[in-house]
Amino acid sequence: MLTARIAVIASGGGTNLQALIDAQGRGELKSGSLTLVIADKAGIGAIGRAGKAGIPCAVIIRKEPEFEEKVLASLAEYNIDLVVLAGFLGIFSGGFIQKFHGPIINIHPALIPSFCGKGFYGLRVHQAALDYGVKVTGATVHYASEVVDGGQIIAQKAVDVLPGDTPEILQRRVMEQAEWVLLPQAAELVSAQIVHEKESDL
Ligand code: GAR
Repeated sequence: MLTARIAVIASGGGTNLQALIDAQGRGELKSGSLTLVIADKAGIGAIGRAGKAGIPCAVIIRKEPEFEEKVLASLAEYNIDLVVLAGFLGIFSGGFIQKFHGPIINIHPALIPSFCGKGFYGLRVHQAALDYGVKVTGATVHYASEVVDGGQIIAQKAVDVLPGDTPEILQRRVMEQAEWVLLPQAAELVSAQIVHEKESDL
């Protein structure tokens, strides 16, 4: 069966990568196959998760020169159809997005257009939501574009903010209730579209 070849790019613990691995194991991510993990830092949790799942992992250091060129070369080497940014804390240039021939999707831990854009990543997003005093936050999966967190939205899920929340507690709730559910669903949706296009090209 034709599948979309997926590369996951991560910068941290890799719980969103794990959600994708688990979804593939349960047969919920079936139109796409997790083919490559790119870790942008040495020693991060995502590397061990890839290894345990038997997915090849390239460590390409984001802070080093020619990061984007090396990522593009790795994506080409593995013939990747779809890039999933799963906790990627950098920003790809517009040139990178144009050079990769397929879709790139990203998970953001807030309801875009709130608490997004440059400087809003990881725990900072949840701190900003708590500082503002919103009662509802959530997660968004969207296509990456030249505008940070500005591409077309694919899916969103709301999560309650509760009294006594710290950024860490809120982050965990957003991950459990929104991110780990939405990202595999969105990856399946976009993979199914890619497979459909591949089949109509045959
Ligand atoms: C996740 O909450 C993800 O949404 C966020 O970083 C965390 C990574 O966790 N991404 C961003 O803030 C991107 N702007 P993980 O490494 O355990 O998946």
